[in-house]
Amino acid sequence: MTNNFLNFLKPFIVLFYGYARIISCILISIFLLSYCLHPDRFASHYNYVKAENIPDELEKSYEQRDNSCTIKINGNRGSDILYPNKYPHEDPSVMARRLGILPGGQWKPHNCYPQFNVAIILPYRNRDIQLAIFMNYIHPFLQLQNLDYKIFVIEQSPMREFNRAKLFNVGYKEATKISNFHCFIFHDIDLIPQNPDNIYACSKMPRHMSSSVNTFRYNLPYTGLFGGATAITRKLFEKVNGFSNVYYGWGGEDDDMYSRLRNKGLEVTRFAPNVAQYYMLTHKKETPSSARYERLHSGEQRFDTDGISNLEYKVLDHELRPLYLWILADV
Ligand code: BGC
Repeated sequence: MTNNFLNFLKPFIVLFYGYARIISCILISIFLLSYCLHPDRFASHYNYVKAENIPDELEKSYEQRDNSCTIKINGNRGSDILYPNKYPHEDPSVMARRLGILPGGQWKPHNCYPQFNVAIILPYRNRDIQLAIFMNYIHPFLQLQNLDYKIFVIEQSPMREFNRAKLFNVGYKEATKISNFHCFIFHDIDLIPQNPDNIYACSKMPRHMSSSVNTFRYNLPYTGLFGGATAITRKLFEKVNGFSNVYYGWGGEDDDMYSRLRNKGLEVTRFAPNVAQYYMLTHKKETPSSARYERLHSGEQRFDTDGISNLEYKVLDHELRPLYLWILADV
């Protein structure tokens, strides 16, 4: 009886195992395919301005003229195009002369009338090699884009913890004493833009420029990220009262800025992931400040009172260096 029953079941068991093998093969293939082809592996998930629409998105600093410079969007693919020279050996003065850069890191095109006027603000401390690599790379990059630009390096004096956001505010303040800049680019010196289509001018809305960085596998870690490199018109920067001054130590100041923008109803713009690609120069990771959570939590109460409106600092020294204007500030 038992034998008969087993004989009866046998074809079903064989059939079941046959199907089970096929079904598990299909399931494993689906899993592997979805893992390998997941869009996260190739591009960031965020709303972005396509490369061909970039010119319309930018806010001009000067009136259009017959001989206005044109913006070149070449549809470059991105990270495979540009890499920094990690061993720049050209003397800064020689480089400045070769590229026609004025003392204090200032340049504008001469064969056409620039459309964009930009102050690039770099907070700085103790990163001399990165500074040399950045300068060596960025000047030719900006000149290719026919910008009217000036570079400011704002160095924080020793003693207190680094305050990236306050150095940005100092950069804004010092820059506006020199000229009526239309657009500000707030930029870390360890970030190297890899695509020449990433135009270093302001868009109508504040722009998070470094939305696709190699250390994040060219993905945007979270939608509210506003760190690394950003561009914002003077007008909008003033509207949000600049950055907060209270973020000593690593982290949070960029998240606070994102909240300030949102608080004033400003949407953040980003360029397409292949355009917004950056290569980060390696350095020892800083220890994040745990105080940032509390500051972020109470941030909104300070938006109107903490920023460029109450900024206090002392300029300890300054110098027109061949590739940038250097300011040493006590913040
Ligand atoms: C910090 C930001 C930082 C981001 C990405 C966040 O936890 O608060 O300041 O930009 O991480 O590193």
